[in-house]
Amino acid sequence: MIAITGASGHLGKAILEFLLSKTNPESLVTIVRDPQKIAEFADKGVAVRQGDYEDQTSFVTGLAGVDTLLLISSAVLGDDRVRQHSNVINAAKEAGVKHIFYTSAPNPSPNALFTPAIDHFRTENLIIESGLTYTFFRNNLYLDVLPMVIGDAAQSGKLYYPAGEGKVNFVLRTDIAEGLANALTTEGHENKVYDIGAPTALSFSDIANGLSHNGTTVEYVDIPGSAYEAELVKHLPPVAAKIYAGMAEGIKQNDFNVPSPTLEKLLGRTPVRLDAYLKSL
Ligand SMILES: NC(=O)c1ccc[n+]([C@@H]2O[C@H](COP(=O)([O-])OP(=O)(O)OC[C@H]3O[C@@H](n4cnc5c(N)ncnc54)[C@H](OP(=O)(O)O)[C@@H]3O)[C@@H](O)[C@H]2O)c1
Repeated sequence: MIAITGASGHLGKAILEFLLSKTNPESLVTIVRDPQKIAEFADKGVAVRQGDYEDQTSFVTGLAGVDTLLLISSAVLGDDRVRQHSNVINAAKEAGVKHIFYTSAPNPSPNALFTPAIDHFRTENLIIESGLTYTFFRNNLYLDVLPMVIGDAAQSGKLYYPAGEGKVNFVLRTDIAEGLANALTTEGHENKVYDIGAPTALSFSDIANGLSHNGTTVEYVDIPGSAYEAELVKHLPPVAAKIYAGMAEGIKQNDFNVPSPTLEKLLGRTPVRLDAYLKSL
């Protein structure tokens, strides 16, 4: 049986839908905090079990009979996140799970500028130390978060962001979901680390060009990181402002510039490109 966590979230729900098109619902389990949130999957025959990353015992019970687990990274950050992931990894071992897939990030490192990648570094190590078979999906930044970053650039003609000419292999969340569903249902992914993103990396100049339309030119303005962070703290809690500022600095240093053919191979087609995504908005 295959279990996935986070099926009440955007990525998990999309993965479960792809899995349902590939395999029979009786082989699928999902473990979520609130089963009511995804009653539609129970109606389709998926076993919907209750579990919270904070509660290791709930996962030992929830993972009964499961061979392969996809752990979708938690939405909290830092030590809390790593502790939650550790609970699930320990529970998986106790319940007899053989293989863990984990949603990580590009270039996980103890010194990552994008601090969530520090949590991913620590979690990947916990999984390796557990001795379970692993597959890490180092998912690049979602194309789906671009509107938040570009704001009103298409109207104002200015795209302000402090990323220099750093590049990102942006990727559509549903493409990651389809790739994960394909990997979860095929062999050959044992102890593999996959960089998951579009094959071509894009700079913010490329994005500005992509936003230029009908004679309107959008100009990328590379602002200082300190000015960006000073503006962010006016609107966000300081912790969140630090994360977004660190993400921009990480982009500038090319931490998200990791071209790889893996997703294209997993999908058997080209992942959705920026121009198609912008058109779809
Ligand atoms: N690559 C990127 O650009 C990017 C962007 C954003 C996030 N992420 C990471 O990727 C993950 C998946 O993305 P997403 O878009 O699907 O995020 P999402 O929509 O926020 O979904 C997060 C999922 O995690 C579950 N979850 C959170 N805390 C939990 C806990 N204590 N116990 C059990 N389940 C818990 C949530 O359950 P509830 O419904 O109960 O809250 C939800 O199902 C995120 O959690 C985050 O770590 C990556």
